[in-house]
Amino acid sequence: MTTWITICDTCKRDGWNSGETGKTDGETLAALIEHAAADTAVRTRRTSCLMGCTHGCNVAVQAAGKLCYTIGNFLPDRRSAEAIVAYAALHSETESGQVPYRQWPEGVKGHFVTRHPPLPPEE
Ligand code: FES
Repeated sequence: MTTWITICDTCKRDGWNSGETGKTDGETLAALIEHAAADTAVRTRRTSCLMGCTHGCNVAVQAAGKLCYTIGNFLPDRRSAEAIVAYAALHSETESGQVPYRQWPEGVKGHFVTRHPPLPPEE
């Protein structure tokens, strides 16, 4: 199953200044993630608000039938984007969605907010 990174493009971290770039922090991070994921098996999409506004920037890592995660409190920078994409690529290679901790990229450690078990099969 394809792993998707759903990126909140309306996140604004403390101190965000609309005059600097004209973009939200979420838009900046989204562009960096999209660039980093361009040549991988991971897909990306944007959404407006994952309801974690006090700890942006936030993304969700999701795939059908697997454990899914919300990870947040990211700076909108290349290091964060590359760590998120690297983690999502590892997620895509697992059966369950659970990436062993020893494989986690350093840049995602300490950023996990929620974990969602997969839905049960349709009856
Ligand atoms: S604005 Fe990003 S989680 Fe609400």
